[in-house]
Amino acid sequence: MDGVEIDAYRLYSNFYSRFEVAKYYIKDLKNAKYIVSNLLDINKKYDYIIWLLPFVSYEPLKYWGLPKRFFCPEKMLNHAFSLLNDGGQMLIINQGKKEALIQKELLEKLNLNYTFLGKIENKFYQFKNDRFGYLISKF
Ligand SMILES: C[S@@+](CC[C@H](N)C(=O)[O-])C[C@H]1O[C@@H](n2cnc3c(N)ncnc32)[C@H](O)[C@@H]1O
Repeated sequence: MDGVEIDAYRLYSNFYSRFEVAKYYIKDLKNAKYIVSNLLDINKKYDYIIWLLPFVSYEPLKYWGLPKRFFCPEKMLNHAFSLLNDGGQMLIINQGKKEALIQKELLEKLNLNYTFLGKIENKFYQFKNDRFGYLISKF
Protein backbone atom coordinates (compact mmCIF):
# COMPACT_ATOMS: atom_id res chain seq x y z
CA MET A 1 0.00 0.00 0.00
CA ASP A 2 1.49 3.33 -1.07
CA GLY A 3 0.34 6.73 0.18
CA VAL A 4 1.34 9.73 -1.91
CA GLU A 5 1.41 13.38 -0.88
CA ILE A 6 3.29 16.30 -2.31
CA ASP A 7 3.50 18.49 0.80
CA ALA A 8 4.75 16.01 3.39
CA TYR A 9 6.78 18.47 5.42
CA ARG A 10 4.13 21.07 6.17
CA LEU A 11 3.35 21.25 9.86
CA TYR A 12 0.13 20.72 11.74
CA SER A 13 -0.63 23.14 14.58
CA ASN A 14 0.99 20.59 16.97
CA PHE A 15 4.25 21.00 14.97
CA TYR A 16 4.24 17.44 13.67
CA SER A 17 4.61 17.16 9.91
CA ARG A 18 2.24 15.16 7.71
CA PHE A 19 5.22 12.84 7.08
CA GLU A 20 5.69 12.16 10.81
CA VAL A 21 1.98 11.52 11.34
CA ALA A 22 1.88 9.13 8.38
CA LYS A 23 4.99 7.33 9.68
CA TYR A 24 3.26 6.83 13.03
CA TYR A 25 0.10 5.37 11.48
CA ILE A 26 1.96 2.93 9.23
CA LYS A 27 4.60 1.84 11.76
CA ASP A 28 3.08 -1.65 12.19
CA LEU A 29 1.95 -2.15 8.58
CA LYS A 30 4.52 -4.27 6.78
CA ASN A 31 3.74 -3.30 3.21
CA ALA A 32 2.73 0.34 3.67
CA LYS A 33 4.85 3.17 2.31
CA TYR A 34 4.43 6.95 2.43
CA ILE A 35 5.82 8.49 -0.73
CA VAL A 36 6.65 12.20 -0.92
CA SER A 37 6.00 12.98 -4.55
CA ASN A 38 3.90 14.69 -7.14
CA LEU A 39 1.30 12.11 -8.17
CA LEU A 40 2.14 12.97 -11.77
CA ASP A 41 5.63 11.49 -11.21
CA ILE A 42 4.29 8.15 -9.96
CA ASN A 43 4.31 5.44 -12.58
CA LYS A 44 3.57 2.22 -10.71
CA LYS A 45 0.39 0.27 -11.41
CA TYR A 46 -2.26 -0.38 -8.77
CA ASP A 47 -5.35 -2.58 -8.39
CA TYR A 48 -7.02 -0.07 -6.06
CA ILE A 49 -6.61 3.65 -5.57
CA ILE A 50 -8.30 5.67 -2.83
CA TRP A 51 -8.19 9.39 -3.48
CA LEU A 52 -9.31 11.52 -0.55
CA LEU A 53 -10.37 15.10 -1.13
CA PRO A 54 -8.75 15.96 -4.46
CA PHE A 55 -8.47 19.62 -5.40
CA VAL A 56 -11.10 20.02 -8.11
CA SER A 57 -11.38 23.82 -7.82
CA TYR A 58 -8.63 26.39 -7.40
CA GLU A 59 -9.69 28.17 -4.17
CA PRO A 60 -9.17 25.18 -1.81
CA LEU A 61 -5.72 24.50 -3.33
CA LYS A 62 -4.77 28.16 -2.85
CA TYR A 63 -6.09 28.12 0.72
CA TRP A 64 -4.15 24.90 1.38
CA GLY A 65 -1.00 26.76 0.32
CA LEU A 66 0.03 24.91 -2.83
CA PRO A 67 1.39 26.92 -5.80
CA LYS A 68 -1.03 27.45 -8.70
CA ARG A 69 1.00 25.22 -11.02
CA PHE A 70 -0.27 22.24 -9.04
CA PHE A 71 -3.86 22.98 -9.96
CA CYS A 72 -4.53 20.63 -12.88
CA PRO A 73 -7.51 18.43 -11.85
CA GLU A 74 -8.12 16.96 -15.28
CA LYS A 75 -4.48 15.97 -15.78
CA MET A 76 -4.37 14.49 -12.25
CA LEU A 77 -7.53 12.44 -12.78
CA ASN A 78 -6.32 11.20 -16.13
CA HIS A 79 -2.97 10.22 -14.62
CA ALA A 80 -4.52 8.52 -11.56
CA PHE A 81 -6.75 6.50 -13.89
CA SER A 82 -3.73 5.51 -16.00
CA LEU A 83 -2.12 4.02 -12.85
CA LEU A 84 -4.94 1.47 -12.49
CA ASN A 85 -4.44 -2.07 -13.73
CA ASP A 86 -7.14 -3.47 -16.01
CA GLY A 87 -9.98 -4.54 -13.72
CA GLY A 88 -8.80 -2.03 -11.11
CA GLN A 89 -10.96 0.41 -9.20
CA MET A 90 -10.55 3.90 -7.81
CA LEU A 91 -12.58 5.37 -4.97
CA ILE A 92 -12.71 9.17 -4.93
CA ILE A 93 -14.11 11.06 -1.95
CA ASN A 94 -15.08 14.70 -2.39
CA GLN A 95 -15.92 17.32 0.15
CA GLY A 96 -19.23 19.18 -0.24
CA LYS A 97 -21.87 19.04 -2.99
CA LYS A 98 -20.16 21.67 -5.12
CA GLU A 99 -16.88 19.71 -5.34
CA ALA A 100 -18.78 16.45 -5.93
CA LEU A 101 -20.53 18.08 -8.88
CA ILE A 102 -17.24 19.32 -10.36
CA GLN A 103 -15.86 15.80 -9.89
CA LYS A 104 -18.80 14.37 -11.83
CA GLU A 105 -18.18 16.82 -14.68
CA LEU A 106 -14.49 15.83 -14.77
CA LEU A 107 -15.33 12.11 -14.85
CA GLU A 108 -17.77 12.66 -17.67
CA LYS A 109 -15.38 14.89 -19.62
CA LEU A 110 -12.76 12.12 -19.48
CA ASN A 111 -15.40 9.54 -20.33
CA LEU A 112 -14.59 7.40 -17.29
CA ASN A 113 -16.91 4.67 -16.13
CA TYR A 114 -18.16 5.63 -12.66
CA THR A 115 -20.81 4.91 -10.04
CA PHE A 116 -21.93 7.70 -7.74
CA LEU A 117 -21.97 6.34 -4.17
CA GLY A 118 -23.88 9.27 -2.67
CA LYS A 119 -23.19 10.72 0.76
CA ILE A 120 -20.52 8.88 2.74
CA GLU A 121 -21.38 8.34 6.40
CA ASN A 122 -18.83 7.65 9.12
CA LYS A 123 -20.05 6.00 12.32
CA PHE A 124 -16.96 7.02 14.26
CA TYR A 125 -16.34 10.56 13.12
CA GLN A 126 -18.57 13.49 12.19
CA PHE A 127 -17.20 15.19 9.05
CA LYS A 128 -17.21 18.99 9.10
CA ASN A 129 -18.62 19.00 5.55
CA ASP A 130 -20.67 16.29 3.86
CA ARG A 131 -18.59 13.87 1.82
CA PHE A 132 -19.58 12.14 -1.41
CA GLY A 133 -18.03 9.17 -3.17
CA TYR A 134 -17.42 7.93 -6.72
CA LEU A 135 -16.26 4.46 -7.67
CA ILE A 136 -14.41 4.34 -10.99
CA SER A 137 -13.78 1.02 -12.70
CA LYS A 138 -11.26 0.22 -15.41
CA PHE A 139 -12.28 -2.64 -17.64
C1 LIG B 1 -7.29 18.46 0.91
S1 LIG B 1 -5.80 17.55 1.16
C2 LIG B 1 -6.35 15.98 1.62
C3 LIG B 1 -5.35 15.44 2.51
C4 LIG B 1 -5.52 14.00 2.95
N1 LIG B 1 -5.65 13.09 1.84
C5 LIG B 1 -6.63 13.88 3.95
O1 LIG B 1 -7.68 13.34 3.64
O2 LIG B 1 -6.43 14.39 5.06
C6 LIG B 1 -5.20 17.35 -0.42
C7 LIG B 1 -3.87 16.62 -0.47
O3 LIG B 1 -3.58 16.45 -1.84
C8 LIG B 1 -2.20 16.36 -1.96
N2 LIG B 1 -1.84 16.76 -3.33
C9 LIG B 1 -2.28 17.81 -4.04
N3 LIG B 1 -1.71 17.83 -5.25
C10 LIG B 1 -0.89 16.76 -5.30
C11 LIG B 1 -0.03 16.23 -6.29
N4 LIG B 1 0.11 16.80 -7.49
N5 LIG B 1 0.65 15.11 -6.00
C12 LIG B 1 0.53 14.50 -4.79
N6 LIG B 1 -0.27 14.95 -3.82
C13 LIG B 1 -0.97 16.07 -4.07
C14 LIG B 1 -1.61 17.30 -0.95
O4 LIG B 1 -0.44 16.72 -0.46
C15 LIG B 1 -2.69 17.35 0.12
O5 LIG B 1 -2.25 16.68 1.26
